[in-house]
Amino acid sequence: MKTEVRPRPIAAAEVLPENGDRLIDQFGRVFDYLRVAVNEKCNLRCIYCMPEEGIDFRPEAKLLTADEIIRIVTIAAGLGVRKIRFTGGEPLIHRQIIEMVSAAASTPDIESIHLTTNGVLFEKKAEALFEAGLRGVNISLDTLDHQKFIDITRRKGLDQVLAGVRTALSLPFPSVKLNVVFMRGFNDAEISDFVELTKESPLVVRFIELMPFDAHQIWKTGKFYGADRIVEELKRLHPDLEPADGTATEHHVFRVPGYKGKVAVIPAFSRTLCGNCNRVRLTADGKLRNCLYSDNEFSLRDMMRNGSSDEEIANLMREAMWLKPRDGWEAQRGGGQRRESMTQIGG
Ligand code: 5AD
Ligand code: SF4
Repeated sequence: MKTEVRPRPIAAAEVLPENGDRLIDQFGRVFDYLRVAVNEKCNLRCIYCMPEEGIDFRPEAKLLTADEIIRIVTIAAGLGVRKIRFTGGEPLIHRQIIEMVSAAASTPDIESIHLTTNGVLFEKKAEALFEAGLRGVNISLDTLDHQKFIDITRRKGLDQVLAGVRTALSLPFPSVKLNVVFMRGFNDAEISDFVELTKESPLVVRFIELMPFDAHQIWKTGKFYGADRIVEELKRLHPDLEPADGTATEHHVFRVPGYKGKVAVIPAFSRTLCGNCNRVRLTADGKLRNCLYSDNEFSLRDMMRNGSSDEEIANLMREAMWLKPRDGWEAQRGGGQRRESMTQIGG
């Protein structure tokens, strides 16, 4: 098991370097991955995310337009960003999602476009998304049981999501992953069922720690299950698991010998991965966030709507990332206006 990764400050680098053309911070981290929430609304109501009636969704006019999003993507590309992930809310209910994927894919210097979706609408749109340039998809799916699916999402749709997963695997996407929010007493008995999905397909199943991002604090109801414990449980059930390679935030990655796919555990709450962070977040209402856990936001939307130049926007992005806290714990202590749901930050 890897140890905690904590960034070290660069000595003497107290101020934002002049004329830098990349997004870097005081701890030597480089940011080349932009996650864009294209909306806040969703066609599901996962209990750890939103109440049944939804949240106080912002009016459309406060959200970025597709053109504004693409402008930020283009400016970010000039600052060294190479990977874009569209998320939400649920990005597939955005009317222009295909156009945005296509525009981002043809932006110079952008190397790959990914999408995080709940999968309900994926089967229908998969081919068009692939044609538009999408190269990776993460599908959120917390259970393989019909009743549990309804319990967690408060909607029907498991068959549609499974069809979405099959479609994703049938197309030549280089990366197909399942995001499983791991909850004690809810889906902890399904570990092996999820692991078995990696037998015949090059799928990466990622067990994610529950995070405290819902106004109702469902996460306090005893469902939290720590990453180290998930890893222990995985190893107990599959003693032959062997370590494998993963991305920067896939801290614990394994493969069952002979299986085509992989299994990962994401310490999203424990935050032992912050030293490897390479991501910048853009909320649907156009705020740049330098950390998932930081409520200090930088409004790129207001700058764009005030007629600022690309260079001025780039400078705010550089400043915002330079000020990134050392890790998600420090960020959480930093104050700011708390948001109601993960769907407002970008899942
Ligand atoms: N804790 C952990 N994951 C969450 N997500 C949304 N809210 C939470 C939370 N409180 C996840 C979704 C999905 C991604 C978009 O974010 O399940 O995988
Ligand atoms: Fe929708 Fe994702 Fe929130 Fe579930 S977690 S309600 S799928 S945005």
